Amino acid sequence: MIERTFIILKPDCMEKNMAGKVLDRLFTKGLKPVGMKLVRLDDRILTEHYAHLKDKPFFPGILKFMSRSPVIMAVLEGEDAVNVVRLLCGPTNSTQAPAGTIRGDFGKDVQENIIHASDSKETAVTEIARFFKKGELC
Ligand code: PPS
Repeated sequence: MIERTFIILKPDCMEKNMAGKVLDRLFTKGLKPVGMKLVRLDDRILTEHYAHLKDKPFFPGILKFMSRSPVIMAVLEGEDAVNVVRLLCGPTNSTQAPAGTIRGDFGKDVQENIIHASDSKETAVTEIARFFKKGELC
């Protein structure tokens, strides 16, 4: 089924100039961009986005990391897009991600893992609405 998912190319990805390589992998797999923008995230939107992690000891570190450089956010469309993108990314912790996955090849650890990707169709709908206005999607 054709569906949409949401990604963030995180500050480590941008600082290492890896955005082109990562997008190439996603586009080559057939995912089509329907929305994309460069943004510096602030604590308000990050606290909302990572609300499920607010009691974790690493939560303050996430806010600091995710706001330290501008990020690219995108909405991608394609067959089974949520699962396809998660498979291309690999596991959250880059040290456990196999070679050939985005995190396995470009990530450093569990925080500096290059990319955020929605973990379900329902989450994708929420995250797309959080970060994109209707008029920003083609
Ligand atoms: S969880 O907690 O198992 O549900 O993990 P998950 O939803 O996959 O992702 C957690 C996000 O927090 C970021 N992060 C860390 N996770 C675990 N441990 C540490 N120390 C940590 N530091 C940061 C991790 O990169 C995930 O970010 P996103 O943007 O969701 O990929």
